[in-house]
Amino acid sequence: MKILYAASECKPFAASGGLGDVVGSLPQALRQKKVSVRVVLPLYGSIKQEYRDKMTFLKAIYVPVAWRRQYCGIFEYRGDGVIYYFLDNEYYFKRDSLYGYYDDAERFAFFSRAVLEIIPAVDFKPDIISCNDWQTALVPVYYSTMYSKGGGYYSNIKTVFTIHNIQYQGKYGDEVLENVIGLSPFDKSIVEYDGCVNYMKGAIESSDKVSTVSPTYAEEILDPWYSYGLDTILKMRSWKLKGILNGISYDVYNPETDKHLWANYSVDNLSGKKTDKEELQKYFNLPLKKDTPIVAMVSRLVSHKGFDLVQGIIEEFIRYFDVQFIVLGSGDWQYEQFFRDLAGRYPDKVGLYLGYVPDLAQKIYAGSDIFLMPSKSEPCGLSQMIALRYGSVPVVRETGGLADSIKDSGMGTGNGFVFTNYNAHEMKHALERAVEGYKDKEGWQILMKRAMNCDFSWDRSAQEYIDMYKSLIGQ
Ligand code: GLC
Repeated sequence: MKILYAASECKPFAASGGLGDVVGSLPQALRQKKVSVRVVLPLYGSIKQEYRDKMTFLKAIYVPVAWRRQYCGIFEYRGDGVIYYFLDNEYYFKRDSLYGYYDDAERFAFFSRAVLEIIPAVDFKPDIISCNDWQTALVPVYYSTMYSKGGGYYSNIKTVFTIHNIQYQGKYGDEVLENVIGLSPFDKSIVEYDGCVNYMKGAIESSDKVSTVSPTYAEEILDPWYSYGLDTILKMRSWKLKGILNGISYDVYNPETDKHLWANYSVDNLSGKKTDKEELQKYFNLPLKKDTPIVAMVSRLVSHKGFDLVQGIIEEFIRYFDVQFIVLGSGDWQYEQFFRDLAGRYPDKVGLYLGYVPDLAQKIYAGSDIFLMPSKSEPCGLSQMIALRYGSVPVVRETGGLADSIKDSGMGTGNGFVFTNYNAHEMKHALERAVEGYKDKEGWQILMKRAMNCDFSWDRSAQEYIDMYKSLIGQ
């Protein structure tokens, strides 16, 4: 089985969030299960020279973008048994950031079209093209309208579209239809939705399978509360919708070997975790108290991650409980300002780093005791899985992938603390249960070890992807 895996992010080359983690690890996991997989990505200006040095130029082609023809250099990079194609066009991709430009619609129309155009050029005929999020959503649209009857390299390809976050759909005005996407007037209804052009809707319409990154999210997005307007079309196409929970790389996220930690540790020898906690307290100038639980958040500071709830009760919580609270992330001004103010007023209780430093994130997972993730919606969420691996017990809202990975420990089983409604006091109650639980040293050790022993490596999920791919090609 041959898979062409198309995405706009991939760690370690270029990433802005969880999509980059998944694209950086799922293809390897598929490879280990003997699937032939090649990944195709934009060659962003921000990709480091050390990776560019290892790329080989294969050839250049010209890619149609509506009425234009644009240069596309194809570079190859090999790593961990996976072949990566980086598509070069400096006009589109030599910029400081990945997204956020006036012509994103055109940049990713180019990329999606190029994913199909390179197939004969690199001599790889895939059985499946697996696409991710709106940036590659036009691949199935173009395949079904322009390439599927092309024969040869294009015969019998199935397309899968994976939704990592339904909030970002690639929504534009009508003007992109003719000048950017270049669909014929007969086909334009595929991408039209709600008076706009919507790339993600086009993919839902034209791909053979739509997947999303957890089973619970696959159900939630049929509901307007979660769907950002796409529930109507998803309900009509629900027969092709499937949820597969992501995994994380157990090589990258491994407290036994992680070089970013002050001290390494394992589930059988936790002494290093104590050092990590102490060092973390020193780093944030917090009192060195080994019996005070550290509650941590590592997250973009945006509303859907649940910061409205945190804003509502955190002060009350840290005042009445003997806890320390650490936040790492950046995002909306109002939350940054809120935490700056809080850290200023409670320097003995609050540690704050506004920004994102991956090394520090690992240190926080390792040094903290409790990991808070009260998302309003969470397609999958990777942080709770990393937290489990590092023995920081998650407190989560029961939504999306959080609901599928974290079970409440109230009944003596489970790996964390779960609350159901998006309500600040429900969250506070769950945090209180965690902090109370922490006082019972023996009970906490058992819970922490149970958390660490959970398996959210890619193994199981990669097999589910393979089963989905196989069912599409009738194997
Ligand atoms: C997005 C989602 C997150 C998910 C990630 C990888 O970033 O918001 O929940 O874990 O994609 O699929």
